[in-house]
Amino acid sequence: MAHPFQQKFESVLERDKSKYVKPFIISWDYQAKRKKRGVKYSNGLPEDFYTFNGAQDIVKWMNWFSGEYPSFYKDELINPLIEKSKQNDIAILKNLGIDYDFNQYKNVGLNNAHDFFIPQSYPVPKEFEIKTVLDFGAGSGRQANLWWSHLNGKGNFIAVDAIPMSYGLQHHYYKAIKPDFVDYIDNPDAFKIDTKGSNLYHVPTWRLDLVPDNSVDLILCVQVLPELGKQLILHIFEQFQRILNPGGAFYIRDLNYMYKAFGTVDIDTALINAGFTLEYKAFIEHNKHLHGIPKVWRKNMESITNVQKNNLNQKKRYLLEDIDALTGGILKRKK
Ligand SMILES: C[S@@+](CC[C@H](N)C(=O)[O-])C[C@H]1O[C@@H](n2cnc3c(N)ncnc32)[C@H](O)[C@@H]1O
Repeated sequence: MAHPFQQKFESVLERDKSKYVKPFIISWDYQAKRKKRGVKYSNGLPEDFYTFNGAQDIVKWMNWFSGEYPSFYKDELINPLIEKSKQNDIAILKNLGIDYDFNQYKNVGLNNAHDFFIPQSYPVPKEFEIKTVLDFGAGSGRQANLWWSHLNGKGNFIAVDAIPMSYGLQHHYYKAIKPDFVDYIDNPDAFKIDTKGSNLYHVPTWRLDLVPDNSVDLILCVQVLPELGKQLILHIFEQFQRILNPGGAFYIRDLNYMYKAFGTVDIDTALINAGFTLEYKAFIEHNKHLHGIPKVWRKNMESITNVQKNNLNQKKRYLLEDIDALTGGILKRKK
């Protein structure tokens, strides 16, 4: 007998199928390929991502963050965030009735700390202050740990996923943080994001259209893009361009080009074509300085992008100045 949440998820998916769901939107290409190859994960890790068996599987997800995770950030900046994340998770797992050995916790907290700290690690103009965050491909829901503590009362946290096990874990994790959070799967017809309020929302990838235009300040996409197919990547970039505020940030941390399941998309070119500008990319070595390469892209904003390149009038002026110089000032230009 399927878990009640799995049944609910499947019935909403079925209901939405003809109108909103295309196979590429709900596909996790990396896992589909792994299944075809018959590759098994070791014990203690999630195996079947298409079956949600209950919130206790969150522990399997946490087991993923094992081994050495380097960090080049100062301990005094990161350690308090790890501790805060740990205290939050102690309360959340207790709420869910899950036993977990918190001696294993450090890397989970470190990942949470990095993804909270890095997008805010350098000064930006006031209008880019982060009040609403969207986490795409949200795993066990872990980004809500530090981000919701920060956003609560200021703006929304919106999580997006399409895979039954991940979606189910996220649902239970968010419920343990905020019992009255709003999940599309609970009541699809009533689902509406209040852009003026501050709440936690959960929406499947096939209903990204429900996230209003220009309503998000920061999108998080951690260890997700290299695992998706080309059609989905191009689709979400178009959606991210629509839902981000002008100048809004798109934070990516993954293995970049060192690891790509489906090497058919040049992510940087696709982002430039979709109207983004790269603001920050750490010049570091994966797994020596940090796990993955963090990047921040920004949605182009006319008033800024226009003054960061020469317009036609400036190009004309420079050309005339060159001719003037070559001809010994024959054009008699004053400026
Ligand atoms: C490797 S996990 C990373 C999880 C999380 N971002 C983290 O850093 O802990 C990849 C995530 O992408 C999600 N995902 C896969 N296919 C997706 C799709 N079609 N739409 C949205 N999310 C998807 C998976 O369910 C999973 O949550």
